Amino acid sequence: MTYTKSRAYLEQSKQYLAGGVASTLRAAMLPTPLFAESGNGPYIRDVDGREYIDYLLGYGPLILGHAHPSLIGAMDTAVRGGATYGLQHAGEVDLARTLCEILPCAERVALSGSGTEAVMLALRLARAHTGKRKVVRFHGHYHGWSDAIFTSFPSVDMKASSSLTAAQDAVVPGTGGQSANSLDDIILLPWNDPEILEQTLRARHHEIAAVISEPIMCNSGCIHPKPGYLEQMRAWTRELGIVMILDEVITGFRLGLGGAHGLFGIDPDLVTVGKAMGGGIAISAVAGRAAIMQLIERGTVSHLGTLNGNTVATAAALATIGALAADHGAAYVRMNRITDQLTDGIADLMKSHGLPGVVNREGPVFNMMFTREDKVESFEAFNKRDGALYSRFAALMLEEGVLLRPNGLWYVSAAHREQEATKTLQAADRVMGRLISQGGLGGEER
Ligand SMILES: Cc1ncc(COP(=O)(O)O)c(C=O)c1O
Repeated sequence: MTYTKSRAYLEQSKQYLAGGVASTLRAAMLPTPLFAESGNGPYIRDVDGREYIDYLLGYGPLILGHAHPSLIGAMDTAVRGGATYGLQHAGEVDLARTLCEILPCAERVALSGSGTEAVMLALRLARAHTGKRKVVRFHGHYHGWSDAIFTSFPSVDMKASSSLTAAQDAVVPGTGGQSANSLDDIILLPWNDPEILEQTLRARHHEIAAVISEPIMCNSGCIHPKPGYLEQMRAWTRELGIVMILDEVITGFRLGLGGAHGLFGIDPDLVTVGKAMGGGIAISAVAGRAAIMQLIERGTVSHLGTLNGNTVATAAALATIGALAADHGAAYVRMNRITDQLTDGIADLMKSHGLPGVVNREGPVFNMMFTREDKVESFEAFNKRDGALYSRFAALMLEEGVLLRPNGLWYVSAAHREQEATKTLQAADRVMGRLISQGGLGGEER
């Protein structure tokens, strides 16, 4: 497969757009970053005229698939009435009320444009609320690319700290140009290790403002918290006067309207949501306890943004949430059914082809990896996967008309149907056959 026009566009793009792509991660796609022409439901079409079943879904936001009619209608109406006012409008109030009604921890919300911004605000609120500075975050989690939280991703920090004891700080900046002291306030810990967490919180609570965690480690293997881990995190942070932030930028609206904290029955002080909330339009929110959120009202914490709460974004979010909530959440039942079909089918195919692997899944998001580990329940185990083999799998799936993210994370939308899942599994069957004939896991010859 040549991807002729995508390659030509990339060359053109590089002359004007730094790096040729609009977000660094997109450059990693093999065999070449694809240029899209349009999307429709579960399908995306590239500039070479090929159509793909889409499990990248814009890196998560497209929970209703591409070009959902209710989103188009709502955004069309919004933009005709003016895209942004710099004033307040009813859509903001409707959205904020809706979020307070459906997110269990939300007594107040604040609207921003991206997950990165929501995390920045949550950290600021936590510091202002506690009068402390340090923030505990975890290896393998991702919380956006702001200087204050962006550490090397996904594993350089782990390698750098492997000669240190797990509880020692070894925070490696995520990028060139990051201010040398921007991560001074970060304490980086292994996730899912209650002992280290308790030890650290008890020893340093006088300086720790917040613990921030993905509720499921979606960014590194879709790994579940150990039973009781998030509950312990909640209990210790509450006891020690530390703000607990769950970063639900991926899990929010994806695992259900109440996100992971609703699903697991956890009561964090703050959550950050984004991605699926806007169905593909830039919007995010911080939601949480009134006592903390009111710092914005009192003027203690500044929350700014020219386009915050614009009419198009609030209309998109309301339309997305409305479609997800319709028929008592029928969209979630559908997404879960299709995901069952995919994950069961992939596990069976791995077995029948003799390609050892693991599929970790929660609701309509899962991570597929080739590995000799029986289970992948830690960041260390995740790092033992054969990432290069998976990248090859993703590149061959592209030839078969299936678009996957090269790191193994699959998103399923409400637009995916049984027929797309069936075609996907047939493609995976052929591709696994090709991988085996090329050497399989660890390059074993057959
Ligand atoms: C858990 C989590 N938090 C925050 C972010 C940052 O969101 P955004 O890319 O919208 O800035 C991401 C993005 O992938 C994420 O996965």
